[in-house]
Amino acid sequence: MSKSEMLDDLPTNTSANEHFQSVVERAVNRRGFLKTGLGLSAAVFLSGSLSACNSDNDDDDAPDSETPEPRPLIGFTGIPTSTADDIVVAAGYTATAFAPWGTPLFSSGPGSTWAGGSEGAAEQMRQVGDNHDGIHFFPLVEGNSEEGLLVMNHEYTTTSGTATYAWLFGTPNTTITTADQANKAIAAHGVSVIHIRKNAGKWEIVLDSQYNRRITAATPMLLTGPAAGDDLLKTTVDPTGTSVFGTINNCGNGFTPWGTYLTCEENFNNYFGTTAGSDSRNAAQKRYGLSAGATSYGWELFHDRFDYVKEPNESNRFGWIVEIDPFDRNSTPKKRTALGRFKHENAAYRIGADGTVAVYMGDDQANDYVYKFVSNGKYKAGDHRNNANLLDSGKLYVAKFNAGAVAGDFMGDGEWILLDKASNAALAGFANQAEVLINARLAADAVGATKMDRPEWVAVHPATGEVYVTMTNNSGRTTTDEANPRAQNRYGQIVRWREAGDDVAATTFAWDIFVLAGNPIKYTDRSELKSGSANVTAENTFNSPDGLGFDKDGRLWIQTDGNYSNTGEYEGQGNNQMLCADPATKEIRRFFVGPKECEVTGIAFTPDSKTLFINIQHPGEDGNSHWPDGGSAIPRSATIIITKDDGGVIGS
Ligand code: FEO
Ligand code: CA
Ligand code: CA
Repeated sequence: MSKSEMLDDLPTNTSANEHFQSVVERAVNRRGFLKTGLGLSAAVFLSGSLSACNSDNDDDDAPDSETPEPRPLIGFTGIPTSTADDIVVAAGYTATAFAPWGTPLFSSGPGSTWAGGSEGAAEQMRQVGDNHDGIHFFPLVEGNSEEGLLVMNHEYTTTSGTATYAWLFGTPNTTITTADQANKAIAAHGVSVIHIRKNAGKWEIVLDSQYNRRITAATPMLLTGPAAGDDLLKTTVDPTGTSVFGTINNCGNGFTPWGTYLTCEENFNNYFGTTAGSDSRNAAQKRYGLSAGATSYGWELFHDRFDYVKEPNESNRFGWIVEIDPFDRNSTPKKRTALGRFKHENAAYRIGADGTVAVYMGDDQANDYVYKFVSNGKYKAGDHRNNANLLDSGKLYVAKFNAGAVAGDFMGDGEWILLDKASNAALAGFANQAEVLINARLAADAVGATKMDRPEWVAVHPATGEVYVTMTNNSGRTTTDEANPRAQNRYGQIVRWREAGDDVAATTFAWDIFVLAGNPIKYTDRSELKSGSANVTAENTFNSPDGLGFDKDGRLWIQTDGNYSNTGEYEGQGNNQMLCADPATKEIRRFFVGPKECEVTGIAFTPDSKTLFINIQHPGEDGNSHWPDGGSAIPRSATIIITKDDGGVIGS
């Protein structure tokens, strides 16, 4: 499609057209982006701030005679960085650890008490898993903010003697030597569904609830959608290619408006190796990064399916997005092959005007891609039968970010390239469409998608529909482009786009960089890209944006998983943290800082936005934390519950 055709495709309303600026306006943007104020592009890219929506506050239909000053979207004072082994939150807020790894979900039987990590597999299957990541709160009754299901991912375990400080067995650096140890690690993965409710103002777990459930790396699930049953998914145990045991490396998450949870399989490759003693990997296995020899997890020593020589197709059954019904403990999770197989970070949906469902996704690897799924069916509110399998049929696209009319202005236009064997000659080498989905990375390579700086979480603005994605870092980048403008990108950036015609099914979009993270403490020359964009200051500096999510008022919450050395390139950036941004003004303030050697990840709100749940993953991964239990206790991943002391909306 030519550029003029693409522009014809664009929305005709004034506000949407504003972000297609004149060439003159764009030319001054580079300077503004780096130095002055918050940059011109903020005002022209986004049509308006939700913070200006509260001008008529009374009950009558008439406009107020005086228009009050709009409240700022962000109401708290930003906090300094921290290097303490503790959590720190903005003044006026309280943050409390909740449901750490090993927390019992049942009051009797195996695992009903926490034994400091000495538990075996049978106990771990009934306790909260390890390395908390993506999270979502599902109210039991629509709109109820006092009781619901807290559903969260458990990304990984560090259990090998070669890994730094692996705590899974209660003592550091235990190498897996028994089947029960391997099975405990398998049980510490996956997802927890936890029934919680507020009792006298305090959140607690409802032990023995009919909803409490652990989904692990051994739970039976189905492969569904276009690739299900393909030869590449068949194994000795499953000659149909449709059923699989477990989900692994559950990183970020998504959820759907029809009440399901999406868990995203990221670095599944690390679980597949061989004891055969030679490198027998095929090209696809190499592209996805399977270990040539033994893995650090060691599961292949006890389960043949994790040995890629013995079971060459088992790894093809991981790297998917898995849909879970959290309200039915007996439901079978479904791996949705229509969404493609790669190292999934998270999944963010948007419903189009006609009910079309778009799901935006990132593949977290240096020089990998951003994807979009567009459903064939239409979402119908309240129609469970209609919505149940919407993620099984649709189109999968991969993104190409073009420089646009002006080179070097950190904005441009983009295309969604359809990954469809039948219509794209570049995919002629694939046996069928199932192989395109199973080896989506290779398909994206073939069509020339833009190689990004490790796409992590995607989030959709609740009012404008603009889509934001974190590029966490890419220190190995040597060739730059406009959306990934730095070689040796240590700090990361957040890129956003708006679909042409505000249509979720559009095949073109306009994009810009919302923030180029950087360190203006270390790099004081503001014309240098390493100092970051103008909305990065000595007060809010951070590296490696990862978790990302909007609240219902349109505040953008940013979490980091980066270098916490607080020295050198990272001087003054402290421990990993959570920040809040105003999408309209681009202002960013630090809200929360985690304990030593952790990452901050996962964002979930109660419907009233007055309780925020986030996760602390791998505190003390270098052996220097006792959080959250303190004293000489081993560190544990845990959820954090944050409330505002005046009972108000988080961030207001
Ligand atoms: Fe599991 Fe890309 O973070
Ligand atoms: Ca440009
Ligand atoms: Ca992440």
